[in-house]
Amino acid sequence: MKPIRVGLLGLGVVGGGTYAILERNREEIGRRAGREIRIIMAAVRECDHEKAHQKTGGAIPLTHDPMAVVNSPDVDIVAELMGGIHPAKELVLQAIARGKHVVTANKALLALHGNEIFKAAHAKGVMVAFEAAVAGGIPIIKALREGLTANRIEWIAGIINGTSNFILTCMRDHGDSFDDALKQAQDLGYAEADPTFDIEGIDAAHKLTIMAAIAFGIPMQFDRAYTEGISRLTAQDIQYAEEFGYRIKLLGITRRTARGIELRVHPTLIPEKRLIANVDGVMNAVLVKGDAVGATLYYGAGAGAEPTGSSVVADLVDITRMATSDPGNRVPHLAFQPDQMHDDVVLPVSEIETSYYLRIRAYDRPGVLADITRILADLGISIEAMLQREPAAGEERVDVIMLTHQTIEKQIDQAIAKIESLDSISGSITRIRLESLGSA
Ligand code: HSE
Repeated sequence: MKPIRVGLLGLGVVGGGTYAILERNREEIGRRAGREIRIIMAAVRECDHEKAHQKTGGAIPLTHDPMAVVNSPDVDIVAELMGGIHPAKELVLQAIARGKHVVTANKALLALHGNEIFKAAHAKGVMVAFEAAVAGGIPIIKALREGLTANRIEWIAGIINGTSNFILTCMRDHGDSFDDALKQAQDLGYAEADPTFDIEGIDAAHKLTIMAAIAFGIPMQFDRAYTEGISRLTAQDIQYAEEFGYRIKLLGITRRTARGIELRVHPTLIPEKRLIANVDGVMNAVLVKGDAVGATLYYGAGAGAEPTGSSVVADLVDITRMATSDPGNRVPHLAFQPDQMHDDVVLPVSEIETSYYLRIRAYDRPGVLADITRILADLGISIEAMLQREPAAGEERVDVIMLTHQTIEKQIDQAIAKIESLDSISGSITRIRLESLGSA
């Protein structure tokens, strides 16, 4: 059988990994796919030409015009591995318009424009595969879309940004400040020079948006995701959390509730005994709770050349196997048949239900705790645990740490505002959400 021909858009970290895997495992991959998967050309930026030439040993033609790859009649599958929104979006849509299948690792593109892209692909009868867009080498899209298809998915909680997980690990293990830990992440090449997407939870929210769409059969709704990063976390809060038996992780959480879908990324206390609490460094992990299977955990490298290339190649193999099948019999892009998607409401963060860690800086006077607990009780918020440190020598203020039971976020917002207005309270209250992630 003739090889299936792939055109790469981008031959950077992920493109290079994809090329290397296909070279090394060519024969075995071909035996799995049923025919050879051959990269026949790649588009690279002019400034990257020399590096790309070295990576491939000059074995494939390089162009600086990505549209030339998309429009080439010789290309069957376009692999978009360049990232960013423009011109990636135009290139992907043009590839679809030309009747080509697409593989993409571009989570931002799908989270923001996935609805339009999948609609175009469906109309044209081509596949858009995106395993590499979420959690690098972990086959989480495959698991959600196919392996768990019997289940009503209840919730997903994931460590889906390796850079921020590395930073939190440094802060916990060495007591480093956020700034010092970020610098280490940058020195090691994990964080970008502008690390905003990683540390402010935006990259995680892109990935979470994609997983929520597949899990619940809803359109991509990145603009409704609540996103809070790790840049305001202190090593002190990480330490206090430890004293209660919790770790703090940047989690992407999406949950189906009777009132709507929760879609949120924020630092989260999780019990240290959970496996996911022990996922450290740059590693990723995704915990999925299905009604039939219970809780399942997926762990692995969330970034890097060959781990992400592994997902790209898996998509190339899937497409190769399915290319000649009737489009109506393929696995739907977002797990649900396109006419069976529901536009369920995504709840604003004020309506989510979770537990809270509160750090309150209070003057050490009689009645302060009584005032705080009265405010919480009046709002129906129950305290689960509490800790108060003795004041340091010469210091009149103490840290009071409280863990609450579950409550609706708007209740805790009101409680925080009322407690902060007490004369006996100094500065603002630190609030971090807490999830037990139990399988019940
Ligand atoms: N920047 C991402 C991370 C990797 O740190 O996990 C690519 O999604």
